[in-house]
Amino acid sequence: MGLPFKFGKVIEKQFFVNRQFEIDFIKQNILSQINITLISPRRWGKSSLVHIATNELSKTNKSIKICYIDLFNIRTEEEFYKIFATNVINAGASKWEEQIKLSKLLFKKLIPKLSFGVDPSTNLSLSFDWDEVKKDPSEILNLPELISKKKKIQIVICLDEFQNISHFKYPLAFQKKLRANWQYHQKASYIIYGSKQHMMTQLFESKSMPFYKFGEVLFLSKITNDHWKKYIVRRFKTNQKRISSQLASEVANLVENHSYFVQQFANMVWLNTTSVCTEEIIEKSMDQLLNQYEILFIKELDYLSNTQVNFLKALCNNEQQLSGKNTISKYKLGTSGNVNKIKKALIDKEIIDRQGKNITFQDPLFKLWLNKRYIMNN
Ligand SMILES: Nc1ncnc2c1ncn2[C@@H]1O[C@H](COP(=O)(O)OP(=O)(O)OP(=O)(O)O)[C@@H](O)[C@H]1O
Ligand SMILES: [Mg+2]
Repeated sequence: MGLPFKFGKVIEKQFFVNRQFEIDFIKQNILSQINITLISPRRWGKSSLVHIATNELSKTNKSIKICYIDLFNIRTEEEFYKIFATNVINAGASKWEEQIKLSKLLFKKLIPKLSFGVDPSTNLSLSFDWDEVKKDPSEILNLPELISKKKKIQIVICLDEFQNISHFKYPLAFQKKLRANWQYHQKASYIIYGSKQHMMTQLFESKSMPFYKFGEVLFLSKITNDHWKKYIVRRFKTNQKRISSQLASEVANLVENHSYFVQQFANMVWLNTTSVCTEEIIEKSMDQLLNQYEILFIKELDYLSNTQVNFLKALCNNEQQLSGKNTISKYKLGTSGNVNKIKKALIDKEIIDRQGKNITFQDPLFKLWLNKRYIMNN
């Protein structure tokens, strides 16, 4: 028997909680050929949501073909075009004979090199002479539209971890090329998502950026405690153990209803429960979870300056006016200009997030650990 909770990357339907509004939103926009940008802090559930919504849609609508492209290990523009062309061809045609035909038909200036993996039925891959692509990558970028028109289908490109384009040599010029080509697409559509919320927001919400008004922007919110509570109770029950609604709600609350950590923590609580969960079991499980992350958190602190740590202390203590005179002097933060610098540095290090005026920890466990085990002794 597998574990009752799942955490890591993309999850399947039985572990997936709610997000009905977002699923419908994504499906509706795909059907209307409107592009979507999805933004949220790390591990709230972007990739899982896109998978669930697009899978459901492509199951009921056979003319919709989904093409996932994960940029997590893509560091250069050259690699991008290679993986883009390969995945689009594979999404547009399932048989290798047709994939080859399309590759030959659709390229007029560029000459793709075709190669097969061990299993030729699935693994056609394309590569190009970079000097040629550099001059004009349009033929590659227009593939989704050309194939969609030719085959009377709709290819939906799902571009995950989009923030990784910041590793490219010329990220801005790259975005301009994408936008310049994709804005004319009527059959193909695009879902672009990624973490590093502040950066994604800049890319898609700044008027001066190429992707401004590319489509609908959806900021993911957290799954509510009520949904988590029901899910945890249900998963305990189907897996031969019991937890009360009240304790299930507490489990999610302790990790601030953060998708990844609710699943991880609930799993730990379930493992520690013999038959019925108790308050003590939850406490013990939280201790275990903090132990597990402790080395990581200590390391994290090593990379922070004293004022940055002091700022986190103020945040842990729920100080309302982080740039206020009293907070600055109480936590020795220097000047208000300095506080702005600290915030920016901590956002860049992905330790805190800013939503409007609200500053929060990205990782609720780090906050909990600081509160329980660090600030107490300092
Ligand atoms: N709707 C959901 N219901 C239940 N659990 C979820 C849901 N969405 C996400 N999770 C939990 O969070 C984990 C991370 O989800 P996912 O990888 O989809 O998030 P992400 O926002 O794409 O993360 P990253 O920022 O690292 O790319 C999942 O493995 C799962 O444990
Ligand atoms: Mg993801």
